[in-house]
Amino acid sequence: MLSGGSRFTPRLELRPFRRRDLDSLIDAAASSLPDLNKWLPWAHAGYGRRDALVFLRDSVSAWSEGRAFDFTIRYLDNPGFHVGNVSVWFVSRQSRVGEVGYWIRSSETKTGVGTEATARILAVAFDELGLHRVVLRIAVGNRASERIAEKLGFTREGLLRQELQINGEWVDHSIWGLLESEYRLKRAHYADAGWLTA
Ligand SMILES: CC(C)(COP(=O)(O)OP(=O)(O)OC[C@H]1O[C@@H](n2cnc3c(N)ncnc32)[C@H](O)[C@@H]1OP(=O)(O)O)[C@@H](O)C(=O)NCCC(=O)NCCS
Repeated sequence: MLSGGSRFTPRLELRPFRRRDLDSLIDAAASSLPDLNKWLPWAHAGYGRRDALVFLRDSVSAWSEGRAFDFTIRYLDNPGFHVGNVSVWFVSRQSRVGEVGYWIRSSETKTGVGTEATARILAVAFDELGLHRVVLRIAVGNRASERIAEKLGFTREGLLRQELQINGEWVDHSIWGLLESEYRLKRAHYADAGWLTA
């Protein structure tokens, strides 16, 4: 369904995971856990090798089954270093609705990488998967993630009460949507901002 090759932005390479990414993935996740586990249910305090292995296995099979598409984010000038993850998956194939998720390793945040990688995954979602609508679910209080949604032109559509359990607490999430027609209008802005290669 999707080609397994790399996608590029001005600074980044996004590519499907391989089994040999295990160590670099563990390194990135383990060094970012205090930031990740505030917002992401999978990032529990003991996250380690076994969790990363399960993720990699599932990622490879989800890709080959056309269910979900996870990308490892790498710097063009440092391809052995895992910068973070960005993913797109189907919510409804019939209605061509997808969802996007992401995390960036703590040492690399606040340099625009999250926005740049998410802009590129939107190009995958709309140009390659042919989606009609992409959603983001963001925990209430996660300002950094809300800023990515705002910068990319998503509309905050509502509140999902107690949507996910994080660290034993049910957490409300806002739901954000971007339509294909809106993406087409925003695409030139993404390139002007330096997030996508023109
Ligand atoms: C959310 C996350 C992906 C942002 O990544 P990033 O690479 O720092 O994002 P960018 O550098 O592109 O910054 C995007 C915007 O968020 C702002 N921002 C980044 N970190 C922030 C923070 N901790 N608090 C408030 N704003 C923040 C940036 O300043 C920028 O806004 P601006 O252009 O108005 O200055 C990253 O913080 C992360 O992985 N968090 C933990 C996991 C997570 O929350 N994933 C998303 C779940 S929905």
